[in-house]
Amino acid sequence: MKGIILAGGSGTRLYPITEGISKQLMPIYDKPMIFYPLATLMLAGIKDILVITTPEDQASFKKLLKDGSTFGINISYVEQPSPDGLAQAFILGEEFIGDDECAMILGDNIFYGNDFNIMLENARKNAEDGYATIFGNQVRDPERFGIMELDGKKVISVEEKPKKPKSNYAITGLYFYPKGVAAKAKEVKPSARGELEITTLNDMYLQDGVLKAELLGEGFTWFDTGTFESQLDAANMIKTIESNKDKVICCPEQIAYYRGWLTKEELQARADLLKKNSYGQYLQKLVEQTK
Ligand code: DAU
Repeated sequence: MKGIILAGGSGTRLYPITEGISKQLMPIYDKPMIFYPLATLMLAGIKDILVITTPEDQASFKKLLKDGSTFGINISYVEQPSPDGLAQAFILGEEFIGDDECAMILGDNIFYGNDFNIMLENARKNAEDGYATIFGNQVRDPERFGIMELDGKKVISVEEKPKKPKSNYAITGLYFYPKGVAAKAKEVKPSARGELEITTLNDMYLQDGVLKAELLGEGFTWFDTGTFESQLDAANMIKTIESNKDKVICCPEQIAYYRGWLTKEELQARADLLKKNSYGQYLQKLVEQTK
């Protein structure tokens, strides 16, 4: 299975901050925002990852993530010339996806909670069996999101930012698709706002009877860090969790090490590089715990 991180967009919602830097490179507490979605794809066992960026920001993402070997994975890059919609990711990524299943995550989405690895495994299995999977999370302000209407756990409708939401289950920015998603994305017609909407793509899978949902539970944390407030809330939350647990969460190096994608020597090299702060000291602890 392949994975895409969509990290483009105009960023105007966060001006003046994002006039000089891509949103997904900004920090959320102790790591760049893109580390969080990267960790999610890695947690799903995905090693081949395509990062889609604006043409002007690609060099900065390459500087940070390189070819992925820091995390024991393969990272490649594609430019999105203009922000024409989330579903365009699969058209831009067609060659990368090849004849494979594909997951996509938005570069500003943070997931952390119980049983997430089980949900990711379910979604992966669904994709292998020909099903698409979306992830629902209850929110206070459903008109701001794509919304799924449910009958039990069964999805009965999906709508992009409805004025009168049929439920308060937001469709989060993580999607798993079976083989053939690029061809399907090419059938998506632009919406009234001129974008290739991911919700239109999800609706096609729904109409075909192959759309499933995983629901994030009560204690689950999901952030779309696209506003000043949500960035600060997310950073505070990460800081609180990490202080309480005395660990670094959503840590790509740790996931890679536990999965055997990084050797102890490689993790040690990374710990040495980051040793001046709590992130590097955490990596050092991981090395020593497994001596
Ligand atoms: O976060 C979940 C929500 O994400 C879903 O509930 C919605 O269904 C989905 O449409 C999306 O809504 P947003 O309003 O958050 O979409 P936005 O246009 O802000 O784009 C989301 C991210 O993707 C953002 O970080 C910028 C990036 N992006 C966006 C577009 C349209 C791209 O990289 N390329 C694009 O063409």
